[in-house]
Amino acid sequence: MNFKDKIILITGAASGIGRAAALAFAKEGGIIVVSDIYEKGGIDTVAKIKATGRKAIFIKTNVADFTSVEKLMQRIVDQFGRLDIAINNAGIIGANARTIDTPLDSWEKVMAVNASGVFYCMKTQIPIMLQQGGGAIVNTASIAGLKGLPNSLPYVASKHAVVGMTKTAAMEYARHNIRINAICPVFTISPMFDPEAMEKAKKGIPDKLKANVPMKRFARVEEQVAAMMWLCSDGASFVTGHALPVDGGLTA
Ligand SMILES: NC(=O)c1ccc[n+]([C@@H]2O[C@H](COP(=O)([O-])OP(=O)(O)OC[C@H]3O[C@@H](n4cnc5c(N)ncnc54)[C@H](O)[C@@H]3O)[C@@H](O)[C@H]2O)c1
Repeated sequence: MNFKDKIILITGAASGIGRAAALAFAKEGGIIVVSDIYEKGGIDTVAKIKATGRKAIFIKTNVADFTSVEKLMQRIVDQFGRLDIAINNAGIIGANARTIDTPLDSWEKVMAVNASGVFYCMKTQIPIMLQQGGGAIVNTASIAGLKGLPNSLPYVASKHAVVGMTKTAAMEYARHNIRINAICPVFTISPMFDPEAMEKAKKGIPDKLKANVPMKRFARVEEQVAAMMWLCSDGASFVTGHALPVDGGLTA
């Protein structure tokens, strides 16, 4: 895959899947805009990329705040004059509770970051891509964007929203050479999903979750990133509006 000198924005790139994506796209020659609300982690991601001799900058952004997202895109245009690829990946999980016990603030926060965040990003990225004649967007959804998951109503709602927005925007801009897809990860080892910490807190839970995955293991961040990279590559030139499960067969 050749992403040489492509301007690539990754949100939620201070940690986990987003950081792994930033490192991988940089290795393939991309110039990476690392974006996150978590400043220290974002700066660390940039340092890791620069240590390999590649280019990256950090722009602190809260994807749940439209003004912050607008400023991010304006800075990218001012500095680089274009945006070739956007990975809208920032996300949070909410309270672990049944529907009637779900606190309102968990609903509001999760929808703000996961659903509104992706909408705000696409709303401000697509005009740049229209202007330059094309681009590729990958949104990070989840298997929770394809099926229900008890005790996670806000997260499931927000990720179904990501899948729906991906399909809708893809149809609207397909003729303008902008491809928009989503990945739907299963449990992926990262600071968000840490089986070791879970094992300490609630004995046996990771084993039960793993047993549901036909491949009988959790995903590695690199496996999610490989799917993102393919969706952004010329190899996926006729793929748009797709929500790709990267799930060891779980949704099969
Ligand atoms: N890890 C999993 O098992 C799993 C499974 C399915 C989907 N996902 C999705 O993958 C994406 C990445 O998750 P991860 O596992 O790398 O988690 P993570 O917690 O390691 O990384 C998420 C990043 O998003 C950032 N972020 C949170 N709120 C933000 C905001 N308002 N503005 C900007 N940045 C913000 C965090 O600071 C963090 O750096 C998320 O969208 C998550 O829902 C993860």
